Formats: sequence, C-alpha cells, structure tokens
Amino acid sequence: MIFGFIVKPIMLLNGGLLLFALMVFQMLQGMRKIKFKGPLHLKVHKRMAWVIMAFALIHGAMAAVYVFGIRIG
Ligand code: HEM
Repeated sequence: MIFGFIVKPIMLLNGGLLLFALMVFQMLQGMRKIKFKGPLHLKVHKRMAWVIMAFALIHGAMAAVYVFGIRIG
C-alpha cells in the first residue's frame, strides 16, 4: 500500500505489457527495422531507453510493494 493506494496484480500486468511493447519497439529501432533520419535515430533510441528505464524502476518498485506487502505512508 502506498498512501492508501493498493497495488493490484492487473496494474503490474499492464505495466509489464507496456514495458514489453516499449522494448519490442526499442529492439526494432536498434535493428534498424524502424528508422529515423540521421542523428534523430540515436536521439530517439537514447531517450526511449531512459523512458524504459524510468518505467522499469516504477514497475519494479510497485512489484516489490505488492509482493512483500510493503506499506508506505
Ligand atoms: C531494450 C533494448 C535496447 C536498449 C535499452 C538500448 C539502449 C541503447 C542506448 C542507451 C544507446 C545509446 C548509447 C550511447 O550513448 O552511445 C544505444 C545505442 C545503440 N543501439 Fe541500442 N538499445 C536496445 C536494443 C538495441 C538493439 C536490439 C540493437 C541492434 C540490434 C541496438 C543497436 C544500437 C546501436 C547500433 C546503437 C549505436 C547508435 C546508433 O547507431 O543508433 N540497440 N542503445
């Protein structure tokens, strides 16, 4: 529970599916199946990597709260 907000399995499932989809796009871009012109390509790939990292941290923290029954606030 985080400030009275209970983490439900469906939220973790949705977060996991979102992360999976983002990672599939990141891999397709890395493999140049999806292309952007010039330097924009690395810019998008790099920024998306940060977005994935941020979501992964939130997802992991929420999973820890759920699995270990941690109470914050
Ligand atoms: C979840 C998957 C991936 C993540 C999180 C990721 C992340 C990154 C990051 C952060 C960089 C920037 C490195 C720098 O600062 O120079 C980078 C560069 C690069 N990545 Fe990925 N990457 C992923 C998948 C892939 C895949 C599957 C490939 C190729 C098969 C790939 C090919 C490249 C290449 C060639 C670069 C160099 C820059 C460029 O030419 O665009 N990446 N990747």
